[in-house]
Amino acid sequence: MFILILGAPGSGKGTQGQILAERLGLPKITTGDLIRTAMQDGTPFGLEARKYYDEGKLVPDSIILGMIKDELARPEAKDGAILDGFPRTAAQAELVDRTLGERGQRLNHILLLDVTEEELVRRLRARARVEGRTDDSPEAVATRLQVYQRDTAPLIAHYAQRGIVHRVPGTGTVDEIAGEIKRIIGR
Ligand code: AP5
Ligand code: MG
Repeated sequence: MFILILGAPGSGKGTQGQILAERLGLPKITTGDLIRTAMQDGTPFGLEARKYYDEGKLVPDSIILGMIKDELARPEAKDGAILDGFPRTAAQAELVDRTLGERGQRLNHILLLDVTEEELVRRLRARARVEGRTDDSPEAVATRLQVYQRDTAPLIAHYAQRGIVHRVPGTGTVDEIAGEIKRIIGR
């Protein structure tokens, strides 16, 4: 089973993805975490990604598509995975659809975490004080919210045509939202 968790920055993709991955015994693939690790390790990919990441811009598809392909090809993801933070562009969505399609698989559910912008900003501000993620600066957060609307939100319509998008009210406690997701996917 392949489940995509879609939502704006701070909507809870990582939090809910982790809970879901543990419950279903599936790996969670998070492009943001892979990028942060590469930046920490100072790999050539990490150095290139940082030019975009710190400003809240998307890392270009030209360098992210290969990473997505490699992650989906991992043996752990053979029968399913929780996708957190990708696909995020039309080209990424096309790659995921094609890669899974070649294996006779498909995205089974898209969980769209619906959170007001006011709450997103509140959460990211709170996290900036605690964790200091470089892209949680007010300027980068503003850019991330815009980029989400421009490049990623259009994927909702793309997947809605297939009837696999579930809108999840993303405000409430973490447990309440996890319970709602469990109800939606039926396990
Ligand atoms: P990424 O790491 O994916 O970040 P994001 O999409 O901006 O989202 P966040 O990780 O900030 O939030 P989240 O939705 O996971 O929520 P979380 O559970 O953490 O991407 C970062 C950057 O990497 C991008 O800007 C881009 O540069 C690059 N990138 C990544 N993927 C890419 C791709 N595919 N293509 C190109 N570039 C890519 O929760 C947020 C906070 O709220 C936490 O503090 C959490 O504890 C709290 N919280 C969670 N749930 C609740 C709740 N119910 N109530 C109150 N607080 C809550
Ligand atoms: Mg995240």
